[in-house]
Amino acid sequence: MDLGLENKMALITGGSIGIGFSIAEEFLKEKAGVIICARDVVRINKAVEDLKNKYPSAKVYGTGCDVSKLADIEKLVAYAKSLGGIDFLINNAGTGSAETNLDAPDEKWYHYWDLHVMAAIRLVRLLVPVIRERPGEGVIINTTSICSSQPLYYEPIYNVTKAALNMYSKCLANELIQYNIRVMSVAPGLVLTPDWYKTAGILTEKEGITVQQYFDNIAKDMTPTGRFATPEEVAKFFVFLTSKNATYCLGTNFYVDGGAIKGLH
Ligand SMILES: NC(=O)c1ccc[n+]([C@@H]2O[C@H](COP(=O)([O-])OP(=O)(O)OC[C@H]3O[C@@H](n4cnc5c(N)ncnc54)[C@H](OP(=O)(O)O)[C@@H]3O)[C@@H](O)[C@H]2O)c1
Repeated sequence: MDLGLENKMALITGGSIGIGFSIAEEFLKEKAGVIICARDVVRINKAVEDLKNKYPSAKVYGTGCDVSKLADIEKLVAYAKSLGGIDFLINNAGTGSAETNLDAPDEKWYHYWDLHVMAAIRLVRLLVPVIRERPGEGVIINTTSICSSQPLYYEPIYNVTKAALNMYSKCLANELIQYNIRVMSVAPGLVLTPDWYKTAGILTEKEGITVQQYFDNIAKDMTPTGRFATPEEVAKFFVFLTSKNATYCLGTNFYVDGGAIKGLH
């Protein structure tokens, strides 16, 4: 299927590993260009190098950025402008949490609010004028989670901030369609990325089981498929949503979850 993405440019936050890296790769397969960012500059440079080696004629750029910080976001926007702007913004950077409501301090709530919600709000505010300068349709996709509607017990801050991002996406979709910009969110279920190894490390220590046992148990408990998705399986859907084949899609939170959501939404 030709997705019509040649010469399009996508900015993907949290693009050095995991789902974000796979989204970047799927864009490159469609001959779009990408700008990826993440905090760890060594890892982002390595990701850019790997992608350039695999797709030698592709436009691949990367830069260090902590999207929870306004000053970094402003630098990222300047970088994107210097490269000719973007058509698509994928607000993907994020991570799970582990706390109880009674114990979590204000600082932790504010940190995740900045990472999952303010990052998207600020990037949108600064990049919508840039997207509007490009010909054709613009697309913004926010990575939420099944936890935005079906909470996991150990990460209330994650659940709450992803739910907020979900509602933000809906409000934004209504506001930006007048500028020919479609906004959606994608809610992955279990996707086997480095973030899960981090979570598993914390929880298996408490529960006295191996990481593999933890993955097997959680996949069987949470999904009819009984398995995690690969990052590629999820990334392909993001890229499809930016394409000329998805022009009537907006304002929706799309689950890509192997059936993990237990009811109908
Ligand atoms: N994996 C899943 O099962 C799953 C399910 C539902 C939703 N999600 C969501 O999908 C997104 C990607 O998750 P993932 O599993 O691919 O995570 P991952 O493997 O841990 O990758 C996260 C990426 O985000 C970057 N990042 C983290 N904090 C950042 C910050 N403050 N500023 C800029 N970049 C930052 C990381 O690089 P640095 O550490 O170098 O910054 C990395 O590139 C997240 O929003 C996550 O909540 C994941």
